Amino acid sequence: MNTSPAIPAVSVAQMHGSPRRRYYTGRHLDRVHAISDLRARTHKLMPRFVLEYLEGGAGEEATLRREREAFAEWRYRPHTLVDESHRSLKRPLLGREAAMPLAIAPTGLNGLFMRHADMALARAAAQFGVPFTQSTMSNDRMEDVASIAGLRHWWQLYVFGGEEIWQELLRRAESCGCEALVLTTNSQIFGDREWDSRTRATRSRPSLATLIDAACHPRWCASALSHGMPRFANVIDFVPKDRRGFFESAFWIREQMPRSLSWNDIAKIRDRWKRPFFIKGILHPDDVRQALDHGVDGIILGSHGGRQMDWAISALDMLREAREIIGDRVTLLMSGGIRHGTDMLKALALGADGVLTGRATLYGLCADGEDGVYRALDILKEQAMNELGQLGVPSIDALGPDILRHMHAPPFPQV
Ligand SMILES: Cc1cc2nc3c(=O)[nH]c(=O)nc-3n(C[C@H](O)[C@H](O)[C@H](O)COP(=O)(O)O)c2cc1C
Repeated sequence: MNTSPAIPAVSVAQMHGSPRRRYYTGRHLDRVHAISDLRARTHKLMPRFVLEYLEGGAGEEATLRREREAFAEWRYRPHTLVDESHRSLKRPLLGREAAMPLAIAPTGLNGLFMRHADMALARAAAQFGVPFTQSTMSNDRMEDVASIAGLRHWWQLYVFGGEEIWQELLRRAESCGCEALVLTTNSQIFGDREWDSRTRATRSRPSLATLIDAACHPRWCASALSHGMPRFANVIDFVPKDRRGFFESAFWIREQMPRSLSWNDIAKIRDRWKRPFFIKGILHPDDVRQALDHGVDGIILGSHGGRQMDWAISALDMLREAREIIGDRVTLLMSGGIRHGTDMLKALALGADGVLTGRATLYGLCADGEDGVYRALDILKEQAMNELGQLGVPSIDALGPDILRHMHAPPFPQV
């Protein structure tokens, strides 16, 4: 439930709920106008335990809430009478032009939403012209994903088990042509996702209510479970044979994540991986500095979509400070809370070179597979183009913090 005063649940355009407003939840993508339509269809189609996995955050979900509130606290100060006839969202990411400054974020267990979901996400990204980041916990083989024509394929690494595992994963990522490595560092200790946990009776067994609810979603069963539960296709061979069930293997991998992961390991991985190297999950200025000292090519600010540390700030809260530290030395991306083109523009104005989307593109996936992901990307682009024009800014390169005003900033003139 939305309890944020910054984001009212009811529109001011309604009086006592009138006119009654509805999202479009049908299957005609040309009638979908916003990410919230795709989200509403996702909620119509997916069983409850899948929704808890997709939507949920850690603890009291304060970080999750903050990720949206942070956007709501910035308001635009649009210019007028600016020639807007040639605006574009194109911008280089890692030196290559992207259709817009966005990459699809790594998300694990995509096979829960539909079979071959990683392939669907990657195909849509390739067709649209943005990078796709594949998670270590993905369900399609990285070599299969890499074979998609025109794909900019980033590989996200979780460090687990001994060094030989990440060495092997990097060898494969390199040989199948991954453009960049994204090392996620904020998940060595798994976030306490209460709501997700409540859908299981034991660690390896869903509750009866979960099973009954899942059975009531035959369309989802047909699309996601036609060949049984998904497998962690890229890492399952490292898992002992008697722990290879879906939930069992997820817990086993989680248990093998070294709590001792440190900047020394970053130095080793940096030494090993010669292509662009991002660290994902940074929220403290000291860590931005450490990452720079360790020779990364990019930093991805974020709180794992509110699924790790609760009561954390959001990536947006950290952007200006991070940009000030980084200058123009490396690429600065952010992830968390992007649901509208206008969110992307705010992030760019506050210093990001680009953004990552997790749930927004997953709603598209759940709504209609590859086409739904493409539609989600297209919606974000259309909205950002429209808003850019309304802002009176001729190009995204001209976006800066001056176009925004924080709601808690003192009124002018200051006294
Ligand atoms: C269902 C789900 C699974 C995720 N799995 C991973 C993962 O395997 N690796 C990772 O680095 N981040 C993972 N994340 C975090 C995302 O990469 C991203 O940071 C986050 O979703 C951004 O917030 P947003 O969903 O509001 O866009 C996951 C997020 C979600 C929602």
